[in-house]
Amino acid sequence: MKKVYLDNSATSFPKAPNVSKSICNYIESIGGNVGRGTYQSSYTAGHVVYETRELLCQLFNFNKPLNVVFTMNITVSLNILLKGFLKQNDHVIVSSMEHNAIMRPLTSLLKEGITFDKVQCDVHGRLNPFDIEKYIKPNTKLIVMTHASNVCGTILPIEEVGKICKRHGIHFILDSAQSAGVLPIDFNKLNLSALAFTGHKGLLGPQGVGGFIIKDDFVNKVTPLIEGGTGSLSESEVQPDYMPDKFESGTLNIPNIFGLNASLKFIKSIGIDAIHEKEMELTKHFIEGIKNIDGIRLCGLDSIEGRTAAISLDFTNHDNSEVAFMLDKEFGIMTRVGLHCAPSAHKTLKTFPKGTVRFSPGYFTSMEDINYTIDSIYKVIKML
Ligand code: ALA
Repeated sequence: MKKVYLDNSATSFPKAPNVSKSICNYIESIGGNVGRGTYQSSYTAGHVVYETRELLCQLFNFNKPLNVVFTMNITVSLNILLKGFLKQNDHVIVSSMEHNAIMRPLTSLLKEGITFDKVQCDVHGRLNPFDIEKYIKPNTKLIVMTHASNVCGTILPIEEVGKICKRHGIHFILDSAQSAGVLPIDFNKLNLSALAFTGHKGLLGPQGVGGFIIKDDFVNKVTPLIEGGTGSLSESEVQPDYMPDKFESGTLNIPNIFGLNASLKFIKSIGIDAIHEKEMELTKHFIEGIKNIDGIRLCGLDSIEGRTAAISLDFTNHDNSEVAFMLDKEFGIMTRVGLHCAPSAHKTLKTFPKGTVRFSPGYFTSMEDINYTIDSIYKVIKML
């Protein structure tokens, strides 16, 4: 059976060329730890890890590679940033389209006396930036927000949000889980304090490596969540306060940083604009193809303006789980069904608690895959 992978919003597949080769090269031929060895393979590993920090700086227009911190994934990054920065009586603003990677840490922080307000987006997931100002209080310390919805792909107006943060002296943390590698992101222009990223989605790298980029004047305001060996200042039992050691205790996921290094070079060679353009062609074709099918509600925007390639459908006359199951079983089409770890976003889109079937093509999806999927959707509806 033909296989069509349409779950790139969960994790990209296939990965960029050379990712697995680069991982194998490290494991089979290099192997040294970073910052802990006085031998060549340790220097080689250290060089590639540093080069990966530089590649991330180039991608996000940031100029300080040592302020790029590697973590296991973006959830870990957001936990470090939120729990390390927020203090009792601080107030935070989020949108109603956030993922649980933001909502669960913030909900847990309520018991520490930290409060948050959710700015309501419209039924397509659009945020009016002017609505944010109404929620700003004297103790508002942070706005943390996704760049694009993982449920329906709607892009949030982060440039305007950055300006609001600057005007009011509020820190701004961006969750780039659904945008890094598929939309341009300019750290400086957005007035960010920190940018959290993951390696395994749009960056086309392996699972198990993500991180954050943090501005100098925010570093001192964030307490590390994890402390331990850094290969530096070994005479001291106190965590170093310089970067990136402050936040990088324990051995890094070096094989996967090698993989990410290869995928970032691939993205650089193609260019973000070309990647976005290809994904939007696929999205446009998909939306055109399903828009006249009875019993389908497209959730989110129906044009390609202001969105990514995450496309959520509600099969109004059917159980969405059954549709997803049949698409996979009968046609080999892989999607993600349900609430996508984003209950608040689904409430906004009026798809809670039923959820949706999410189709998320990626750079390596072909037009033929999209045509096959549209055709299969017709057939599944007839079968159920
Ligand atoms: N947050 C990821 C998704 O949307 C895993 O599927």
